[in-house]
Amino acid sequence: MSHPRKFDLVLHGASGFTGQLAAQELAAHAPAHLRWAVCGRSQARVAQIAQKHKVPALCADGLDRAAVDALAAQTRVVLSCAGPFSLYGNALVDACVKHGTHYADLSGELPWIHQLIARHHDACSAAGTTLIPASGFDSVPADLGVWALQQELGACVPIHGFFAIRGGFNGGTLHSGIALGERGELQADPLEQQPRRQVFPVPSLAAWAAPFLMAPVNESVVRRSAALLAPSTQAYGEGFAYHEHLLVRTRSKAHTMAVLLKLSNAMLNSSLGRKFLRRFGPKPGEGPSAQSIREGYARLTLLAGPLDQPLAQRRWFWNGDPSNQITVRCLVQTGLALAAGEAQRGGVLTPASALGATLLQRLFAIDAMRID
Ligand SMILES: NC(=O)c1ccc[n+]([C@@H]2O[C@H](COP(=O)([O-])OP(=O)(O)OC[C@H]3O[C@@H](n4cnc5c(N)ncnc54)[C@H](OP(=O)(O)O)[C@@H]3O)[C@@H](O)[C@H]2O)c1
Repeated sequence: MSHPRKFDLVLHGASGFTGQLAAQELAAHAPAHLRWAVCGRSQARVAQIAQKHKVPALCADGLDRAAVDALAAQTRVVLSCAGPFSLYGNALVDACVKHGTHYADLSGELPWIHQLIARHHDACSAAGTTLIPASGFDSVPADLGVWALQQELGACVPIHGFFAIRGGFNGGTLHSGIALGERGELQADPLEQQPRRQVFPVPSLAAWAAPFLMAPVNESVVRRSAALLAPSTQAYGEGFAYHEHLLVRTRSKAHTMAVLLKLSNAMLNSSLGRKFLRRFGPKPGEGPSAQSIREGYARLTLLAGPLDQPLAQRRWFWNGDPSNQITVRCLVQTGLALAAGEAQRGGVLTPASALGATLLQRLFAIDAMRID
């Protein structure tokens, strides 16, 4: 970067549900020398957050190109919680690329992420600017978990991930799903063509696999990590593949989860369904209670090799509600790592390919997770 910036890090979308939690997390973990600020589209709402954490407040509407350009020009790193990203994210990302500002966000909107890669990966690689979409629950735990197992095994084998989760649902997440449904973009990753088993027993875990809502995003991010790391000493190898599922105790629960996922996709894909969800679902800005956030968790079991006779098994336990506590811890540590200059390269990257070991160490250090 050619000239000094006023801030090391700006948190955008700081007045939303995850944004407020991320501001709290930054206040708790930012090193004393970090010059950080909060930003949002509403001066009044952001001022309240800024006052609470005694940091400067900035104002920028995601749709106002001049405003987000000014935002990206005055900081070294932007973290964004202002979603749906397909609606509010483009101008900010363009401005970050223009000014060589590192960027991470909570997007899980796959078509939008694919567009970012097409539009910005080459320029960012050349300039050394690091953009890391999907830096929340999707897809840090899956991406880092698979990366760590691959480094340990050094074997080119398929890996299956099984998530067991407890947590609430944010209005912001619902509205990102509605935005995708409105554009007919709510589908599995367009790059994943293989038909797959939806419900099946997993004898080695004495449990059943069901389809998992976030699997298309996590699988796509993990595959991109494999592709980005292929030419390096961290390569996953040619026999690598990653498939992700929800883990439940019984066959009937697995079938119920499969039906519920089909039903929610059908609702998001129909205008009547979206109308119903807008009316009766959680609204933007709403999310689970503090108690539910505290008591939530995500357990990720990774099985390497054949499912009936795995070569290795690792179990990661992440503390807190996936959509909120886990998400903001992952995002904030990603931002702090970017501000500390820990990114390995530029480009539109993934958590593992951009930060790998350094992000894992940071998350261990704050007790975000443990290996069971
Ligand atoms: N990756 C993950 O695991 C994960 C987990 C949770 C959430 N998410 C995603 O993160 C996003 C935020 O979720 P949330 O629950 O925090 O939602 P939320 O509470 O609705 O917050 C949305 C934020 O976006 C801001 N915003 C809306 N329109 C804007 C505009 N034109 N310009 C600038 N900012 C604008 C809102 O500002 P106001 O406060 O002024 O309305 C608010 O700060 C969603 O896209 C959600 O899908 C991802």
